[in-house]
Parts: sequence; C-alpha cells; structure tokens
Amino acid sequence: MAVITCIADLKELHRKRTPKMFFDYCESGSYTEQTFRENISDFAQVRLRQKVAVDMSGRSTESAMIDQKVAMPVALAPVGMTGMQRADGEIKAARAAAKFGVPFTLSTMSICSIEDVAAQSPAPFWFQLYVMRDEDFVDAIIERAKTAGCSALVLTLDLQILGQRHKDLKNGLSAPPKLTLPNIVNMATKVQWGLEMLGTPRRFFGNIVGHAKGVNDPSSLMTWTAEQFDPKLDWSKIARIRDQWGGKLILKGILDAEDARMAADFGADAIVVSNHGGRQLDGALSTIRMLPSILAAVGDRTEVFLDSGIRSGQDVLKALALGATGTMIGRAFIYGLGAMGEAGVTAALEIIRKELDTSMALCGERDVKALRRENLLVPEGFFDSYA
Ligand code: GLV
Repeated sequence: MAVITCIADLKELHRKRTPKMFFDYCESGSYTEQTFRENISDFAQVRLRQKVAVDMSGRSTESAMIDQKVAMPVALAPVGMTGMQRADGEIKAARAAAKFGVPFTLSTMSICSIEDVAAQSPAPFWFQLYVMRDEDFVDAIIERAKTAGCSALVLTLDLQILGQRHKDLKNGLSAPPKLTLPNIVNMATKVQWGLEMLGTPRRFFGNIVGHAKGVNDPSSLMTWTAEQFDPKLDWSKIARIRDQWGGKLILKGILDAEDARMAADFGADAIVVSNHGGRQLDGALSTIRMLPSILAAVGDRTEVFLDSGIRSGQDVLKALALGATGTMIGRAFIYGLGAMGEAGVTAALEIIRKELDTSMALCGERDVKALRRENLLVPEGFFDSYA
C-alpha cells in the first residue's frame, strides 16, 4: 500500500501481515457481533455541524486526562495479547504513546510483563487490572504496578466472565500459537511477524506465567479467565483494591447510568463508558448512544472517558462534543501495530490527531476543550429511542 491515509488502511495491512488467529482476536465481537457493529454505525449517525468564516488559527488538541497533560485526549486502551500482534507489541505501543504524549494502558492479559514495559517505556503508563479469585495474586500484581511506577490503575468491571467470540474458538486461539498444520501454514505466510517473534523471548502471558497458581493451560485465555477471574467481584472488593492501590483509579466498563452514579459515589477518578468493544454483552447498546445519560448521572463528580467504536478523529470529536473528557482507542492502534510495529502505532495516533484537528477547524472550533453539543447534529430520538 503506497500511501496510508486512514485507520482502515492500517487495518488492511494488519490483516495481511499478522497470523489470522490474532487478527481475528482483535476483530471479533461476541455472539452475533451486533454491538461490535453498532458501536461503529452509531458513530456514523452522529453528524458534524459545519461553521464558516471563523478564525481557525492557533488550534490545539491538548488537554488533560486525570490531571495528566495529553497531546490529545486519546489514551491507548488495554488490549489483551498485544505482544502476539507483533513481537514485543506492548513495549512498542508504550513507546509510541509516550513519544506522542498520550497514556498507554497495559492489560493484565499482556504478553510483555509490567516489568518489561516499565524497563523500556520512556514514560509512566497505566495498568489495567482484572480481579482474580486468588487474592495473593491480586495483591502482588498491584504491588508490581506500584513498583513499576504506573500512574493509574484501570479496573475493568465488564469481564469477569469472557464473552464468547466464535472465531477464537474456531481458530484455537492461544499464546503462543499451537503448532498445528493450519497454524504453521498460515504463519509461514507472515514472514516478518515470524522472524520478529523468533527474536523475542516474550511469547507467553508475561504477567501470569510464573506468578499465578493453578492455571491448567496458561496459553489459553479462555481457560485461565474461566479458572482465575473472580465472578463475585462487587463494590466491597473494588473498595479493597482501591485502598490497596492508593493512587488514581479509573473504573472501566460502565454502560448504565445507575452503575455510573455508583462509580461516582465511590469516588472513581474517572470512568470509562465501554462495552468492551462489543466483545462482552452482545445486544448492549453502543457507547456513544449511552454517553449522555451517563454524563447526566455523574455530573462533574468524575471524569468520563469513552471507548468502543472509535476509528477516527471525527469519532473522538463526537464523544468530546457530547461531554466526554477523554477517549480510549483499542483496535485503531492495534491495526497500526500489526501493520508496522511502533511506527504503525505512531501513524494511527497521527491520523487520529489530524482528523480531529481538521474536523474541529471545519466545525469552527480552535480548542478541543471547547467542543460542545452545538457542534453536532443528532437524529431525533437517537439517545432515547430505547427504554
Ligand atoms: C480481553 O480483554 C478481551 O476482550 O479479549
């Protein structure tokens, strides 16, 4: 591909250059994928209001997320198995984010460990936690994140049970991939991926292997989420984690005004309005549709970020104009990583910043922090057509 102009171009290169099992893992939603699709199609229904003859000079996309200065309010979301999309993927993405000036979030289900990323990233990153039944493991991983200097804990609340993604079962998803004939045949066509993967020791779930007890198949995400994740997670357990962590806390996976109110009462520094990219409860509504009711419920008691469905700077603009103070991208940066490694993550961030900046200007705005509902045109009933 000669010229890369948009996130969809990076996605095409990711598809070509990465083993099918990992591209499919990234590109899946659960069950029928309705929520996965609607996250995107609902963003397309929200339109931008063009304004002319206004001064467009001196524009800025700079803002802050939980008091951290950001080059644009777009953080890299936690994505499991990022180090299988490209060798040392979490380190590459963390570096790209740090150089660009946006937060990177390391998933509990990463391939590179917290310590690996801390040693190689030029800036502190956020750590995403899944709560396990084994409290010793949870205590230890929180301590590891503190020792690594992580600047926020992102506690994910919508994945105590893994949503079924049909393709992962059909592909026999694992890290590292099992050396079956179809996998060998497919990987043989991904030469750069294979060479880089042979050159790194990081091919296992780095935060888990050697740290968690009683995992029967440490290469299978499905097995160890079923065996390890705590289905009894509730607000009292969340409070225990908050107290042990003692730093900035972001609660991720909120899609309901009532839950959002509880998270704000609880004192979260930020919440992430998320349906896990359509990977968990299929049939849930899109995040952009749910955002206004959640904002109304929390007021200014907590910062509100949004993820799920963002594939462009225009999508970021729409979330901000509705009142989110920040956004997170998952697939959009993974496409870049799978396409071109660290340079691809940087390309994804640059594409999004340029789209945000240009669209903001054509909406007659110079400052990303000044975006507001008047910049949008939304079909009647869009936010309250479901009850
Ligand atoms: C993990 O977070 C997943 O969605 O697979």
